[in-house]
Amino acid sequence: MATVIATINLKGGVGKSTTTVAVAEMLSATFRKKVLVIDLDPQTNATTMLIGEEKWHALNDAGHTLAQLFKDALEPDEKAKHFDIEKAIQKRVSNVEDVRTLDLLPSSLDLIDVQDRLAGMSSGRFYAENPTDILRRATRTVLDNYDVVIVDCPPNLGIITLNGLRISNGYIIPTIPDVLSTYGIPQIVKRVGQFSDTIADDIEAYGIVISKYREQSTTHNTTLRQMRRKSDAPLFKTIIPENDKAADAAEYKPVSTLRQKWGYRGQYDLYKALTEEIMERAGI
Ligand SMILES: Nc1ncnc2c1ncn2[C@@H]1O[C@H](COP(=O)(O)OP(=O)(O)OP(=O)(O)O)[C@@H](O)[C@H]1O
Ligand SMILES: [Mg+2]
Repeated sequence: MATVIATINLKGGVGKSTTTVAVAEMLSATFRKKVLVIDLDPQTNATTMLIGEEKWHALNDAGHTLAQLFKDALEPDEKAKHFDIEKAIQKRVSNVEDVRTLDLLPSSLDLIDVQDRLAGMSSGRFYAENPTDILRRATRTVLDNYDVVIVDCPPNLGIITLNGLRISNGYIIPTIPDVLSTYGIPQIVKRVGQFSDTIADDIEAYGIVISKYREQSTTHNTTLRQMRRKSDAPLFKTIIPENDKAADAAEYKPVSTLRQKWGYRGQYDLYKALTEEIMERAGI
């Protein structure tokens, strides 16, 4: 059975997509796992990091993204539905040659409209199915082809995010250690707990990933100290500092190995250590 992990934070720009892609690539190249990334964020950052923009445009034009899946769910006419999971799943993605077992279910900017339409349609009669069950139904036949599935969620707790949580065994919360980025964490833990009760399925808080940490920052150090004393979810020991390599990593240009991607100043080892911690917490 696949272990499904959601990446979530209500704050944008805290390193969700970077962490999702880094951990997914590490699981594939270093730990030889079969991995699927599901990109649920309309900003499509994980998608373009893994397949580049050009390929994304082609898929988007052909309707082979998750936006099509959710559009179909809003479509009463069965004949007008055309999401095809086999065509949407991109095999062997990533610009890193060593990453050989990573697949992607791509996102689309069109998810923004779909998200709004889904939110507006509260009445049950519009749905042939439960609105938080759309992704689960669509991926039921494919999830178990993988050891690990990582779901990059948009920075909110809307219906699309709930679709991601619905299939997840647990979640990680990347955050910058500052007031605004950590502000929503208690709410996430509470809301996911409530949702987990509703669906009568455990969704475990695997932990908080401190990312973009600045050693010189008083705020970062103060927040980190407070979080170590009291926090709504466990903190992973590995801390990801702010560094140029992480920002460069977003670029889709070919490299051979992950060590090359992360450079030789310790970034590779940090992401490896983080991935090991996640594997331990999630029982992978
Ligand atoms: N450790 C890091 N050091 C420096 N820059 C980083 C680091 N991690 C991520 N970044 C950069 O910070 C920006 C935000 O990161 P990322 O896209 O991963 O965050 P996100 O939480 O997914 O954001 P969004 O909510 O917009 O989806 C990106 O430009 C990324 O390249
Ligand atoms: Mg993102």
